[in-house]
Amino acid sequence: MISLAERVKVVADSITLAVSAKANAMKKAGIDVVGFGAGEPDFDTPAFIKDAAKAALDKGQTKYTPTPCFPELKVAIAEKFNRENGLPYRPDQITTGTGGKHCLYMAFMALLNPGDEVIIPSPYWVSYPEQVKLAGGVNKIVRGEESNGFKITPDQLATAITPKTKVVVLNSPGNPAGHAYTPAELKALADVVVKHPSIVVFSDEIYEKLVYDGLQFVSFATLHPQLPEQTLTFNCHSKSFAMTGWRVGYVGGPKAIIDAINKLQSQMTSHITSFVQMPAAIALTDPRGAQSIESMRVEFEKRGRHMWERLSALPNVYCVRPQGAFYCFPNVSAYFGKSAEGIKITDAVSFAATLLEQSHVAVVPGNDSGFETHVRLSFATGMGQIDKGLDRIEGFLKKLG
Ligand SMILES: Cc1ncc(COP(=O)(O)O)c(C=O)c1O
Repeated sequence: MISLAERVKVVADSITLAVSAKANAMKKAGIDVVGFGAGEPDFDTPAFIKDAAKAALDKGQTKYTPTPCFPELKVAIAEKFNRENGLPYRPDQITTGTGGKHCLYMAFMALLNPGDEVIIPSPYWVSYPEQVKLAGGVNKIVRGEESNGFKITPDQLATAITPKTKVVVLNSPGNPAGHAYTPAELKALADVVVKHPSIVVFSDEIYEKLVYDGLQFVSFATLHPQLPEQTLTFNCHSKSFAMTGWRVGYVGGPKAIIDAINKLQSQMTSHITSFVQMPAAIALTDPRGAQSIESMRVEFEKRGRHMWERLSALPNVYCVRPQGAFYCFPNVSAYFGKSAEGIKITDAVSFAATLLEQSHVAVVPGNDSGFETHVRLSFATGMGQIDKGLDRIEGFLKKLG
Protein backbone atom coordinates (compact mmCIF):
# COMPACT_ATOMS: atom_id res chain seq x y z
CA MET A 1 0.00 0.00 0.00
CA ILE A 2 1.36 3.40 -0.96
CA SER A 3 1.35 5.87 1.92
CA LEU A 4 1.42 9.60 1.41
CA ALA A 5 3.55 12.10 3.28
CA GLU A 6 2.21 13.38 6.60
CA ARG A 7 2.33 16.93 5.26
CA VAL A 8 -0.42 16.16 2.79
CA LYS A 9 -2.70 15.28 5.69
CA VAL A 10 -2.21 18.60 7.47
CA VAL A 11 -3.56 20.57 4.52
CA ALA A 12 -7.33 20.98 4.62
CA ASP A 13 -9.57 19.95 1.76
CA SER A 14 -11.20 23.07 0.44
CA ILE A 15 -14.94 23.15 1.08
CA THR A 16 -15.07 25.98 -1.42
CA LEU A 17 -13.90 23.62 -4.14
CA ALA A 18 -16.96 21.42 -3.73
CA VAL A 19 -19.21 24.39 -4.48
CA SER A 20 -17.20 25.56 -7.48
CA ALA A 21 -16.97 22.01 -8.89
CA LYS A 22 -20.76 21.80 -8.64
CA ALA A 23 -21.18 25.18 -10.36
CA ASN A 24 -18.92 24.06 -13.21
CA ALA A 25 -20.77 20.77 -13.63
CA MET A 26 -24.09 22.65 -13.78
CA LYS A 27 -22.72 25.06 -16.41
CA LYS A 28 -21.46 22.12 -18.47
CA ALA A 29 -24.92 20.60 -18.29
CA GLY A 30 -26.27 23.78 -19.91
CA ILE A 31 -27.69 25.44 -16.77
CA ASP A 32 -27.44 29.24 -16.74
CA VAL A 33 -25.42 29.75 -13.55
CA VAL A 34 -24.53 33.28 -12.43
CA GLY A 35 -20.97 33.04 -11.15
CA PHE A 36 -19.89 35.32 -8.29
CA GLY A 37 -17.15 32.91 -7.27
CA ALA A 38 -14.20 33.92 -9.44
CA GLY A 39 -11.34 35.74 -7.77
CA GLU A 40 -10.04 37.13 -11.04
CA PRO A 41 -10.74 40.09 -13.30
CA ASP A 42 -13.11 39.38 -16.19
CA PHE A 43 -11.03 41.77 -18.36
CA ASP A 44 -8.47 40.52 -20.84
CA THR A 45 -4.74 41.18 -20.34
CA PRO A 46 -3.93 44.57 -21.97
CA ALA A 47 -2.90 44.12 -25.63
CA PHE A 48 0.54 45.75 -25.26
CA ILE A 49 1.51 43.16 -22.65
CA LYS A 50 0.34 40.29 -24.85
CA ASP A 51 2.29 41.80 -27.77
CA ALA A 52 5.42 41.88 -25.59
CA ALA A 53 4.99 38.16 -24.88
CA LYS A 54 4.66 37.40 -28.60
CA ALA A 55 7.81 39.43 -29.24
CA ALA A 56 9.65 37.56 -26.47
CA LEU A 57 8.75 34.25 -28.08
CA ASP A 58 9.81 35.49 -31.49
CA LYS A 59 13.13 36.65 -30.03
CA GLY A 60 13.72 33.14 -28.72
CA GLN A 61 13.29 33.88 -25.01
CA THR A 62 12.37 30.26 -24.50
CA LYS A 63 15.42 28.98 -22.64
CA TYR A 64 16.42 28.86 -18.98
CA THR A 65 16.94 32.26 -17.43
CA PRO A 66 18.88 33.16 -14.28
CA THR A 67 17.20 32.42 -10.93
CA PRO A 68 14.81 34.09 -10.23
CA CYS A 69 14.55 36.09 -13.50
CA PHE A 70 16.30 38.35 -16.03
CA PRO A 71 17.98 41.34 -14.30
CA GLU A 72 15.72 43.70 -16.30
CA LEU A 73 12.65 42.43 -14.47
CA LYS A 74 14.25 42.86 -11.05
CA VAL A 75 15.23 46.42 -11.99
CA ALA A 76 11.69 47.20 -13.24
CA ILE A 77 10.20 45.86 -9.99
CA ALA A 78 12.68 47.74 -7.78
CA GLU A 79 11.91 50.96 -9.68
CA LYS A 80 8.17 50.35 -9.35
CA PHE A 81 8.53 49.89 -5.57
CA ASN A 82 10.60 53.09 -5.34
CA ARG A 83 8.41 55.20 -7.61
CA GLU A 84 4.92 54.09 -6.66
CA ASN A 85 5.32 52.85 -3.10
CA GLY A 86 8.22 54.86 -1.69
CA LEU A 87 10.02 51.61 -0.84
CA PRO A 88 13.81 51.89 -1.18
CA TYR A 89 14.45 48.34 -2.42
CA ARG A 90 17.46 47.65 -4.64
CA PRO A 91 17.26 45.00 -7.39
CA ASP A 92 19.12 42.51 -5.16
CA GLN A 93 16.28 42.88 -2.64
CA ILE A 94 13.71 41.61 -5.15
CA THR A 95 12.67 38.14 -6.13
CA THR A 96 9.94 36.80 -8.37
CA GLY A 97 7.80 33.69 -8.23
CA THR A 98 5.05 31.79 -9.96
CA GLY A 99 2.27 34.15 -8.85
CA GLY A 100 1.77 35.89 -5.54
CA LYS A 101 0.80 32.54 -4.02
CA HIS A 102 4.16 30.94 -4.76
CA CYS A 103 6.04 33.99 -3.42
CA LEU A 104 4.14 33.73 -0.14
CA TYR A 105 4.76 30.00 0.11
CA MET A 106 8.50 30.35 -0.53
CA ALA A 107 8.71 33.08 2.10
CA PHE A 108 6.97 30.94 4.75
CA MET A 109 9.31 28.07 3.82
CA ALA A 110 12.34 30.34 4.12
CA LEU A 111 11.42 31.71 7.55
CA LEU A 112 9.44 29.23 9.61
CA ASN A 113 10.83 26.58 11.93
CA PRO A 114 8.53 24.00 13.54
CA GLY A 115 6.36 25.67 16.17
CA ASP A 116 6.92 29.24 15.01
CA GLU A 117 3.71 31.23 15.25
CA VAL A 118 2.13 33.22 12.45
CA ILE A 119 -0.52 35.80 13.25
CA ILE A 120 -3.24 35.91 10.60
CA PRO A 121 -6.16 38.33 10.91
CA SER A 122 -9.51 36.86 9.87
CA PRO A 123 -11.32 36.89 7.54
CA TYR A 124 -8.28 35.77 5.56
CA TRP A 125 -7.33 34.58 2.11
CA VAL A 126 -7.74 30.79 2.20
CA SER A 127 -4.15 29.81 1.41
CA TYR A 128 -2.31 31.61 4.25
CA PRO A 129 -3.07 29.10 7.03
CA GLU A 130 -2.53 26.09 4.79
CA GLN A 131 0.85 27.38 3.62
CA VAL A 132 1.85 28.05 7.24
CA LYS A 133 0.97 24.45 8.17
CA LEU A 134 2.97 23.11 5.22
CA ALA A 135 5.97 25.12 6.38
CA GLY A 136 5.65 23.69 9.92
CA GLY A 137 4.28 26.87 11.50
CA VAL A 138 1.39 27.36 13.89
CA ASN A 139 -1.52 29.63 12.96
CA LYS A 140 -2.74 32.23 15.44
CA ILE A 141 -5.96 33.61 13.98
CA VAL A 142 -6.96 37.06 15.24
CA ARG A 143 -10.55 37.94 14.45
CA GLY A 144 -11.23 41.18 12.61
CA GLU A 145 -14.68 42.04 13.90
CA GLU A 146 -17.39 42.92 11.42
CA SER A 147 -18.27 45.90 13.64
CA ASN A 148 -14.73 47.18 13.01
CA GLY A 149 -14.95 46.66 9.26
CA PHE A 150 -13.15 43.28 9.60
CA LYS A 151 -9.97 45.05 10.74
CA ILE A 152 -7.90 44.04 13.76
CA THR A 153 -6.95 46.63 16.36
CA PRO A 154 -3.45 47.40 17.69
CA ASP A 155 -4.52 45.95 21.07
CA GLN A 156 -5.59 42.69 19.47
CA LEU A 157 -2.26 42.47 17.66
CA ALA A 158 -0.24 43.27 20.79
CA THR A 159 -2.13 40.63 22.78
CA ALA A 160 -1.61 37.95 20.13
CA ILE A 161 2.18 38.40 20.00
CA THR A 162 4.20 35.84 22.00
CA PRO A 163 7.94 35.02 22.12
CA LYS A 164 7.19 32.43 19.42
CA THR A 165 5.67 34.90 16.95
CA LYS A 166 7.73 34.92 13.77
CA VAL A 167 5.42 36.40 11.15
CA VAL A 168 2.40 38.72 11.05
CA VAL A 169 0.35 38.63 7.84
CA LEU A 170 -1.37 41.81 6.72
CA ASN A 171 -3.53 41.99 3.61
CA SER A 172 -4.98 45.39 2.78
CA PRO A 173 -7.06 45.77 0.64
CA GLY A 174 -8.16 42.30 1.59
CA ASN A 175 -9.66 39.14 0.25
CA PRO A 176 -12.41 38.04 1.02
CA ALA A 177 -14.07 41.12 2.50
CA GLY A 178 -12.75 44.00 0.36
CA HIS A 179 -11.74 45.63 3.64
CA ALA A 180 -8.87 48.10 3.72
CA TYR A 181 -6.97 49.81 6.54
CA THR A 182 -6.51 53.57 6.50
CA PRO A 183 -2.92 54.86 6.68
CA ALA A 184 -3.52 55.84 10.33
CA GLU A 185 -4.84 52.38 11.21
CA LEU A 186 -1.83 50.73 9.57
CA LYS A 187 0.52 53.10 11.36
CA ALA A 188 -1.00 52.06 14.69
CA LEU A 189 -0.29 48.41 13.83
CA ALA A 190 3.23 49.36 12.71
CA ASP A 191 3.87 50.96 16.13
CA VAL A 192 3.13 47.58 17.74
CA VAL A 193 5.31 45.63 15.30
CA VAL A 194 8.44 47.78 15.69
CA LYS A 195 8.52 46.95 19.40
CA HIS A 196 9.31 43.36 18.32
CA PRO A 197 12.29 43.55 15.93
CA SER A 198 12.41 39.77 15.36
CA ILE A 199 8.94 39.71 13.79
CA VAL A 200 8.62 39.81 10.00
CA VAL A 201 5.47 41.31 8.51
CA PHE A 202 4.17 39.81 5.28
CA SER A 203 2.41 42.75 3.66
CA ASP A 204 0.29 41.27 0.89
CA GLU A 205 -0.37 44.31 -1.30
CA ILE A 206 -1.64 42.58 -4.41
CA TYR A 207 -4.87 44.61 -4.42
CA GLU A 208 -3.08 47.96 -3.92
CA LYS A 209 -4.41 49.44 -7.16
CA LEU A 210 -8.01 48.44 -6.59
CA VAL A 211 -9.11 50.98 -3.98
CA TYR A 212 -12.39 52.90 -3.87
CA ASP A 213 -14.13 55.87 -2.31
CA GLY A 214 -10.88 57.85 -2.45
CA LEU A 215 -9.09 55.52 -0.06
CA GLN A 216 -5.37 56.25 0.09
CA PHE A 217 -3.15 53.19 -0.26
CA VAL A 218 0.14 53.10 1.65
CA SER A 219 2.77 50.38 1.70
CA PHE A 220 3.22 49.06 5.22
CA ALA A 221 7.04 49.20 5.15
CA THR A 222 6.98 52.98 4.64
CA LEU A 223 5.33 53.61 8.00
CA HIS A 224 8.44 53.45 10.19
CA PRO A 225 12.16 53.69 9.34
CA GLN A 226 12.74 50.25 10.90
CA LEU A 227 10.09 48.49 8.82
CA PRO A 228 11.98 47.89 5.55
CA GLU A 229 14.19 45.56 7.64
CA GLN A 230 11.14 43.83 9.09
CA THR A 231 8.79 43.57 6.12
CA LEU A 232 8.35 41.49 3.01
CA THR A 233 6.17 43.33 0.51
CA PHE A 234 4.25 41.01 -1.81
CA ASN A 235 2.71 41.95 -5.12
CA CYS A 236 1.82 40.34 -8.43
CA HIS A 237 0.51 41.06 -11.89
CA SER A 238 -2.53 38.82 -11.47
CA LYS A 239 -5.19 41.25 -10.29
CA SER A 240 -4.01 44.70 -11.36
CA PHE A 241 -3.01 43.76 -14.93
CA ALA A 242 -5.65 41.00 -15.39
CA MET A 243 -2.83 38.44 -15.72
CA THR A 244 -3.95 35.64 -13.38
CA GLY A 245 -2.92 32.84 -15.75
CA TRP A 246 0.53 34.26 -16.45
CA ARG A 247 1.67 33.47 -12.90
CA VAL A 248 3.86 36.46 -12.12
CA GLY A 249 4.42 37.41 -8.49
CA TYR A 250 7.17 39.35 -6.78
CA VAL A 251 8.44 40.29 -3.37
CA GLY A 252 10.75 42.92 -1.98
CA GLY A 253 12.46 42.82 1.39
CA PRO A 254 15.64 42.35 3.44
CA LYS A 255 18.39 40.88 1.24
CA ALA A 256 19.09 37.97 3.61
CA ILE A 257 15.50 36.71 3.30
CA ILE A 258 15.39 37.30 -0.46
CA ASP A 259 18.65 35.32 -0.83
CA ALA A 260 17.15 32.48 1.20
CA ILE A 261 14.05 32.43 -1.01
CA ASN A 262 16.24 32.36 -4.11
CA LYS A 263 18.23 29.47 -2.68
CA LEU A 264 15.00 27.48 -2.24
CA GLN A 265 13.70 28.55 -5.64
CA SER A 266 16.92 27.45 -7.36
CA GLN A 267 16.17 23.87 -6.26
CA MET A 268 12.42 24.02 -6.93
CA THR A 269 11.21 25.97 -9.96
CA SER A 270 14.46 27.79 -10.94
CA HIS A 271 12.58 30.80 -12.28
CA ILE A 272 9.29 31.98 -13.71
CA THR A 273 8.49 31.23 -17.36
CA SER A 274 11.11 32.82 -19.60
CA PHE A 275 8.84 34.59 -22.09
CA VAL A 276 6.59 36.20 -19.46
CA GLN A 277 9.52 37.99 -17.81
CA MET A 278 10.04 40.85 -20.28
CA PRO A 279 6.27 41.45 -20.71
CA ALA A 280 6.02 41.57 -16.90
CA ALA A 281 8.75 44.25 -16.84
CA ILE A 282 7.07 46.21 -19.64
CA ALA A 283 3.72 46.11 -17.82
CA LEU A 284 5.39 47.98 -14.95
CA THR A 285 7.33 50.52 -17.01
CA ASP A 286 5.08 51.36 -19.99
CA PRO A 287 2.62 54.20 -19.20
CA ARG A 288 -0.15 52.13 -20.79
CA GLY A 289 0.11 49.82 -17.78
CA ALA A 290 -1.08 52.48 -15.35
CA GLN A 291 -3.81 53.57 -17.80
CA SER A 292 -5.18 50.02 -18.12
CA ILE A 293 -5.20 49.58 -14.36
CA GLU A 294 -7.08 52.84 -13.82
CA SER A 295 -9.77 52.05 -16.39
CA MET A 296 -10.36 48.65 -14.78
CA ARG A 297 -10.39 50.23 -11.31
CA VAL A 298 -13.05 52.75 -12.33
CA GLU A 299 -15.24 49.95 -13.66
CA PHE A 300 -14.74 47.82 -10.54
CA GLU A 301 -15.65 50.77 -8.34
CA LYS A 302 -18.96 51.22 -10.18
CA ARG A 303 -19.79 47.53 -10.02
CA GLY A 304 -18.77 47.21 -6.39
CA ARG A 305 -20.91 50.13 -5.30
CA HIS A 306 -23.88 48.73 -7.21
CA MET A 307 -23.50 45.22 -5.81
CA TRP A 308 -23.10 46.57 -2.28
CA GLU A 309 -26.21 48.78 -2.61
CA ARG A 310 -28.26 45.84 -3.83
CA LEU A 311 -26.96 43.53 -1.08
CA SER A 312 -27.64 46.17 1.55
CA ALA A 313 -31.25 46.47 0.35
CA LEU A 314 -31.89 42.76 0.98
CA PRO A 315 -33.86 41.99 4.15
CA ASN A 316 -31.72 40.83 7.10
CA VAL A 317 -28.47 40.91 5.13
CA TYR A 318 -25.66 43.10 6.40
CA CYS A 319 -22.66 43.94 4.24
CA VAL A 320 -19.61 46.03 5.15
CA ARG A 321 -18.98 48.40 2.24
CA PRO A 322 -15.94 47.14 0.34
CA GLN A 323 -13.14 49.68 -0.01
CA GLY A 324 -10.84 47.66 -2.19
CA ALA A 325 -10.25 44.43 -4.13
CA PHE A 326 -13.37 43.14 -5.89
CA TYR A 327 -15.38 41.35 -3.24
CA CYS A 328 -18.48 41.90 -1.13
CA PHE A 329 -18.72 39.76 2.02
CA PRO A 330 -22.29 39.90 3.32
CA ASN A 331 -23.44 38.37 6.60
CA VAL A 332 -26.26 35.92 5.83
CA SER A 333 -26.50 34.31 9.27
CA ALA A 334 -30.03 35.69 9.86
CA TYR A 335 -31.18 32.96 7.47
CA PHE A 336 -29.54 30.08 9.33
CA GLY A 337 -32.12 27.68 10.73
CA LYS A 338 -34.58 28.45 7.89
CA SER A 339 -35.50 26.08 5.06
CA ALA A 340 -36.05 26.30 1.32
CA GLU A 341 -37.80 23.42 -0.46
CA GLY A 342 -37.18 21.23 2.57
CA ILE A 343 -33.42 21.96 2.80
CA LYS A 344 -32.31 23.53 6.09
CA ILE A 345 -29.64 26.23 5.99
CA THR A 346 -27.16 25.77 8.84
CA ASP A 347 -24.08 27.76 7.84
CA ALA A 348 -22.46 29.55 4.91
CA VAL A 349 -21.63 26.24 3.19
CA SER A 350 -25.22 25.00 3.16
CA PHE A 351 -26.39 28.52 2.23
CA ALA A 352 -24.05 28.57 -0.79
CA ALA A 353 -24.86 24.99 -1.83
CA THR A 354 -28.63 25.52 -1.63
CA LEU A 355 -28.48 28.89 -3.40
CA LEU A 356 -26.56 27.23 -6.22
CA GLU A 357 -28.83 24.20 -6.40
CA GLN A 358 -32.14 26.07 -6.27
CA SER A 359 -31.40 29.53 -7.73
CA HIS A 360 -28.29 28.90 -9.83
CA VAL A 361 -26.03 31.51 -8.26
CA ALA A 362 -22.47 30.59 -7.25
CA VAL A 363 -20.99 32.33 -4.19
CA VAL A 364 -18.06 31.31 -1.96
CA PRO A 365 -18.83 30.32 1.64
CA GLY A 366 -16.73 32.20 4.20
CA ASN A 367 -15.84 29.03 6.16
CA ASP A 368 -12.43 28.65 4.47
CA SER A 369 -11.70 32.27 5.43
CA GLY A 370 -12.57 31.80 9.11
CA PHE A 371 -16.14 33.18 8.90
CA GLU A 372 -19.00 30.65 8.80
CA THR A 373 -21.60 33.40 8.81
CA HIS A 374 -20.66 35.14 5.56
CA VAL A 375 -20.42 34.45 1.85
CA ARG A 376 -18.12 36.09 -0.69
CA LEU A 377 -19.41 37.55 -3.94
CA SER A 378 -16.93 38.73 -6.55
CA PHE A 379 -17.87 41.78 -8.59
CA ALA A 380 -15.31 40.96 -11.25
CA THR A 381 -18.22 40.37 -13.59
CA GLY A 382 -20.48 42.56 -15.74
CA MET A 383 -23.34 44.73 -14.41
CA GLY A 384 -25.92 42.58 -16.22
CA GLN A 385 -24.72 39.48 -14.40
CA ILE A 386 -24.63 41.35 -11.09
CA ASP A 387 -28.28 42.37 -11.43
CA LYS A 388 -29.38 38.95 -12.64
CA GLY A 389 -27.60 37.24 -9.73
CA LEU A 390 -28.92 39.67 -7.15
CA ASP A 391 -32.49 39.22 -8.48
CA ARG A 392 -32.07 35.50 -7.98
CA ILE A 393 -30.61 35.89 -4.48
CA GLU A 394 -33.57 38.14 -3.59
CA GLY A 395 -35.97 35.42 -4.76
CA PHE A 396 -34.05 32.78 -2.81
CA LEU A 397 -34.19 34.79 0.42
CA LYS A 398 -37.95 35.27 -0.03
CA LYS A 399 -38.34 31.49 -0.13
CA LEU A 400 -36.40 31.26 3.14
CA GLY A 401 -38.83 33.77 4.58
C1 LIG B 1 -4.93 38.11 -0.90
C2 LIG B 1 -4.33 37.30 -1.98
N1 LIG B 1 -3.02 37.06 -1.94
C3 LIG B 1 -2.41 36.33 -2.90
C4 LIG B 1 -3.13 35.79 -3.95
C5 LIG B 1 -2.40 34.98 -4.99
O1 LIG B 1 -2.28 35.64 -6.18
P1 LIG B 1 -1.71 34.90 -7.47
O2 LIG B 1 -2.88 34.57 -8.32
O3 LIG B 1 -0.78 35.88 -8.11
O4 LIG B 1 -0.99 33.68 -7.02
C6 LIG B 1 -4.52 36.00 -4.02
C7 LIG B 1 -5.31 35.41 -5.11
O5 LIG B 1 -6.50 35.34 -5.08
C8 LIG B 1 -5.13 36.79 -3.01
O6 LIG B 1 -6.44 37.05 -3.03
